[in-house]
Amino acid sequence: MKTITDEASALSYLVEQVYRRCRIQLRDGKQSMIRWRLSKRMRANNLEGLTAYAEFLRTKASDEEWTQAIDALTTNFTSFLREEEHFQFLVRQALPSVLQRGQIQFNIWSAACSTGEEPYTIGFYLSEHYPLDRGWSWNLCASDISTKVLASASRAIYAEDRITTVPTDWRKKYFQVGTGEWAGHYRVRSALSDRVQFRQINLIESYHHAHSFEVVFCRNVLIYFDRETQLQLVRRMCGFIKPGGFLITGHSESLTGLDLPLRCVKPSVYQLT
Ligand SMILES: C[S@@+](CC[C@H](N)C(=O)[O-])C[C@H]1O[C@@H](n2cnc3c(N)ncnc32)[C@H](O)[C@@H]1O
Repeated sequence: MKTITDEASALSYLVEQVYRRCRIQLRDGKQSMIRWRLSKRMRANNLEGLTAYAEFLRTKASDEEWTQAIDALTTNFTSFLREEEHFQFLVRQALPSVLQRGQIQFNIWSAACSTGEEPYTIGFYLSEHYPLDRGWSWNLCASDISTKVLASASRAIYAEDRITTVPTDWRKKYFQVGTGEWAGHYRVRSALSDRVQFRQINLIESYHHAHSFEVVFCRNVLIYFDRETQLQLVRRMCGFIKPGGFLITGHSESLTGLDLPLRCVKPSVYQLT
């Protein structure tokens, strides 16, 4: 590609590279978002403007700079108890259906877990319905492409305004209240956070798990990919779901029409056939 000399070519270069590297389609109308999200990277590299930064990425940037740029550009929005029916479905229908008679151990994967609210919410529900002190034994794997969100997820510390969706009794039960310089912050108690193993996984590349999962949450990430990429990504994921296990996508995501070994149980909930 030739030298980037104006903002329009800078934008199209960034859009193309982000697509090539992680299959996220930064759609039209996202220009100001791109500019705003990369402004910190421009400052860190003493570069003024998107054109200079894109040219820097094209010619001189390290892999680390690319990771930081992609971290800045990918949308990490999440919240505790987001799309809550999925967690109700997990404990009331999915697990009772997939667990074999007498099975007390199971594994759940939150793929694209962002800053951790999703796996910890799964943990709240499992602690309520499948308590460890009654003999259940479960583990949560939580992964994301972004090292930045994973660092924040494993710290498990949230400002008060991030936990407003958590019922008061669960706040007491599952969080420690910060004091001193941590006043106004809450940390997920280690009894729960220790059950979550965080890993960096790029869902569009090959990866491996030591075991398969009864239920996989892959929510609000498929939306960024084109249909062909969704197909390959979900097909690979199906290889890590136990027979009769479940895949849960975001409410606005649908796998209808894709050739996959899944049957749709209800919108956004699929079962391995
Ligand atoms: C909108 S958040 C969804 C968080 C959570 N699943 C939820 O529904 O609240 C999307 C996450 O997908 C991650 N992501 C984007 N592309 C990815 C990829 N290729 N592999 C793994 N994670 C990816 C982003 O870093 C971001 O944290």
